[in-house]
Amino acid sequence: MSDHDKRVALVTGANRGIGYATSRRLGEQNITVILGTRDSNKGEAACSRLQGEGLDVHFELLDVTAEKSIKAAIESIRAQFGRLDILVNNAGIMIDGEVDAQNVDQETIQETLQTNVMGPLLLCQHCIPLMKAGGYGRIVNMTSTLGSLTEMADPRSEYAGVRTPAYRLSKAALNCVTTLLAKEVRDDNILVNSACPGWVRTDMGGAQAPLTPEQGADTPVWLTTLPDGGPTGGFYRERTLIPW
Ligand SMILES: NC(=O)c1ccc[n+]([C@@H]2O[C@H](COP(=O)([O-])OP(=O)(O)OC[C@H]3O[C@@H](n4cnc5c(N)ncnc54)[C@H](OP(=O)(O)O)[C@@H]3O)[C@@H](O)[C@H]2O)c1
Repeated sequence: MSDHDKRVALVTGANRGIGYATSRRLGEQNITVILGTRDSNKGEAACSRLQGEGLDVHFELLDVTAEKSIKAAIESIRAQFGRLDILVNNAGIMIDGEVDAQNVDQETIQETLQTNVMGPLLLCQHCIPLMKAGGYGRIVNMTSTLGSLTEMADPRSEYAGVRTPAYRLSKAALNCVTTLLAKEVRDDNILVNSACPGWVRTDMGGAQAPLTPEQGADTPVWLTTLPDGGPTGGFYRERTLIPW
C-alpha cells in the first residue's frame, strides 16, 4: 500500500490503557494513528513513546465531552490528512462507586452519559461524512459486557453483583448507538460494531484483572480491520458475537 492509500485512524482516550494498546497495534499494521487525548502533556508523551517505536502516530487534543473540541479535532484531521478511515470510540469513565440504581445521583449519570455516549455519538456524526467521502469506514464503540441487557436481566449472570448503574446504562446506550448507525451507513462501506475488551488491567479495570491492555485491544483492532462486506451492527468479545 502506498503512502497515498495509507489508512488513517482516530483513537480517543489513547494516552493510556486499552486506547494506547489499540493505537500501538494499529500503528504496527502500517496505519497512521491519531491519538485523541484531553490533556496535551499526556498526549504528547504517549505520542513520542510510540513514535520512538517507529510508528506513524500523531496527537490531537480531544475532550469527548466538548463539541467544540470534537469539531476542532476533526477539522484539523481533515486539513492535515484529508481523510479518516477508522474511529475507535475508546475514551470512557466509570465513576459510580458502590451506589445502586435506586440511589445513583443525576450528576453522576449525566457526566457518565456525556463522556460514554454523547461524545462517541457526536464523534460518529462528525467522522461519518469524511468516511463517506473516502468510501470506507470502520467504527468501533468500546462498550462492555456490563452494558449487556441480557446480562443485566439474568439474576444468575456472573455480573449480577456488579452495580455501577450509570456506567452500565451508558454502555447499553452506546450499544444502541452502534445498532442505529450501523443500519444507516450499511450501504456506504462503513461497518459499525461494539467491542467488549474483556476485564483488562488498567486504571479502570484494576490490578486484579486477568488481561493485559494488549490482549484487551485484540477484538477492537480486529473490528477496525474487517474486510469490505464484513459484519456490522454487532457486539463482540474475543472476536465472537455476544448478546446485547
Ligand atoms: N478495563 C476494563 O476491564 C474494561 C472492560 C470493559 C470495557 N472497558 C472500556 O474500555 C475503554 C478503555 O478503558 P481503560 O480500561 O483503558 O480505561 P482507563 O485506563 O481509565 O483509560 C480511560 C481513557 O479515557 C480517557 N478519557 C476519559 N474521559 C475523557 C474525555 N472526556 N475526553 C477524552 N478522553 C477521556 C482517559 O484520559 P485521561 O488520562 O486524561 O483521564 C484515558 O485515556 C473504556 O471505554 C472502558 O469503559 C474497559
